Amino acid sequence: MNYLIFMLAIAMCFGLNEGIVCNIDNRHLPQCNVGCLMNTLEIQNKLNPNSILKVNCSSNKNEDDGLHEVKVNDKYQIFLRERGLGSRIVWRCLLRHGHKVENFQIIWRAYRGASGSRCGQKRSWIARVDGIYLEKDSKAKGLQYHWNVTKQ
Ligand SMILES: *[C@@H]1O[C@H](CO)[C@@H](O)[C@H](O)[C@H]1NC(C)=O
Ligand SMILES: *[C@@H]1O[C@H](CO)[C@@H](O)[C@H](O)[C@H]1NC(C)=O
Repeated sequence: MNYLIFMLAIAMCFGLNEGIVCNIDNRHLPQCNVGCLMNTLEIQNKLNPNSILKVNCSSNKNEDDGLHEVKVNDKYQIFLRERGLGSRIVWRCLLRHGHKVENFQIIWRAYRGASGSRCGQKRSWIARVDGIYLEKDSKAKGLQYHWNVTKQ
């Protein structure tokens, strides 16, 4: 019987740990006392050698991170905090590449906050020749967008 209660307690701990949401205000919770890791929005350039990927991202809170040129095998990162319900953060990015910068795509929800503010989330968008791939917290989610081509 004691053994059963013990197992139940362990199961509850794991369950709680998994669902816990940590932010600056609940650092006193033991699960959160390492603080709240920043969330990461990342754009990787895995195009052909010498291709430059042009990226500009902005949020629904009027934050604009400007234009960035990302070299092949390089990455560009934005570190951000979530703000929770009522102030949900959404970042969008414009990605462009090509001789005449003719290939482009807009990722409208490159990073989207949850209703409870989370920590340590990561969204990686990987630009490849055939399109843009997503990795969510290091889990591959596959091809999300093909490149659109502007008429010359
Ligand atoms: C990227 O920059 C262009 C040119 O300034 C602008 O029109 C566009 O809204 C920007 N896109 C994003 C997602 O910030
Ligand atoms: C890209 O092309 C698709 C299909 O033609 C279109 O639905 C989409 O709106 C285009 N995206 C942009 C950012 O123009």
